[in-house]
Amino acid sequence: MEILAIDIGFGFTKASNGSRSLVFKSILGEAKEIQFKGGMLGENTPGENIQIELDGTSYFVGEMAERQSNVRSFTLDQAQFFGSFAKQLALAAAAQMVNSYTPVSLVTGLPIGYYREYKDGLVKLLLGDHKVVLINANGQPEEKVIKISNVRVIPQPFGSLFNLMLNEVGELGNKRYVREKTGVIDIGFKTSDFTVADRMRYSERGSRTTDSGISKAFSIIADKLREKSNVNIELFRLYEAVDQGVIKIRGKEFDLKGITDQVFGQLAKAIASEVDRLWTDDWDIDTIVLTGGGGAVLAKYLQPLISGKVVAVDPATDARLCNVQGYWKFGKHVWSRGVVQPPAQQIPAGSKP
Ligand SMILES: Nc1ncnc2c1ncn2[C@@H]1O[C@H](COP(=O)(O)OP(=O)(O)OP(=O)(O)O)[C@@H](O)[C@H]1O
Ligand SMILES: [Mg+2]
Repeated sequence: MEILAIDIGFGFTKASNGSRSLVFKSILGEAKEIQFKGGMLGENTPGENIQIELDGTSYFVGEMAERQSNVRSFTLDQAQFFGSFAKQLALAAAAQMVNSYTPVSLVTGLPIGYYREYKDGLVKLLLGDHKVVLINANGQPEEKVIKISNVRVIPQPFGSLFNLMLNEVGELGNKRYVREKTGVIDIGFKTSDFTVADRMRYSERGSRTTDSGISKAFSIIADKLREKSNVNIELFRLYEAVDQGVIKIRGKEFDLKGITDQVFGQLAKAIASEVDRLWTDDWDIDTIVLTGGGGAVLAKYLQPLISGKVVAVDPATDARLCNVQGYWKFGKHVWSRGVVQPPAQQIPAGSKP
């Protein structure tokens, strides 16, 4: 029995099997014959060349779809995401992480605000045997049967909490989080998820999902660039440019540092006031954990606006992986040791954004 964790995010799909992790953009594209795959000199980075066939349709996934597909799909609409993307993205990740016919126990998550509505559907979508054809970098098809025997769905920000609480074998490591009251702010591409765990008890009152994700800031940047260049830039093409502070469009360079500073500052302000409102009665929180890929990029804007002890992810680690690493530890805790008080079942929860 293999334990696998997959965090299907609006921006990135992340997976971990405890020893190896994988990240790719949550984009699906029409697959077509390609004469040369990978780098022109033969170099290949994992996650760069993903092509799968599922239920009779062939897809390019992630960066491959971004680069090669004429028809690319990407969505920030939750119904469309869970209806038409989640299964393909999860199986594209699973196909690269587990062997054919190996029974897999899977942990995945949903934003708190979508938990009640999509949980059962997501379990149904993923449970069972899935025939997937994985096309390798040389264009050779490899048929795999992904056998998902168990599925646990937990609220996404719990992943980061479990990552701090549990050690590599899924046992309670850092007891501090067990005794204290912890707030989690998980900022992703579409959503910001807030939750409070009071001595390991979930607080519905302090938990919520909003639409204050990084894509909000990216939309403003894309609008400004369209005005200046007449080019409509897909949001998922902005990660690197924003990170580097510059974008080249049709040979012309546009500086992004000023606008990024401004829109990230505004977004941080909006999130800080959501936190203030949501946690008004939770003034006794001991630690606030800032997580998710967006948590890392907004940390310097957000930290001065939030009162209390705010802990951000170590800049040397990839904050996008905190949830999925915690999902895996939770899976280890549940299935390897057999002792569980499944937190997911204490929380039939969520308010809609
Ligand atoms: N190395 C990186 N490459 C790309 N983006 C990064 C990187 N490090 C941090 N980021 C930031 O991470 C954000 C995505 O974070 P994350 O993967 O947690 O979102 P998500 O889980 O896909 O979204 P959601 O939670 O809304 O579904 C990006 O918007 C970007 O600002
Ligand atoms: Mg996320």
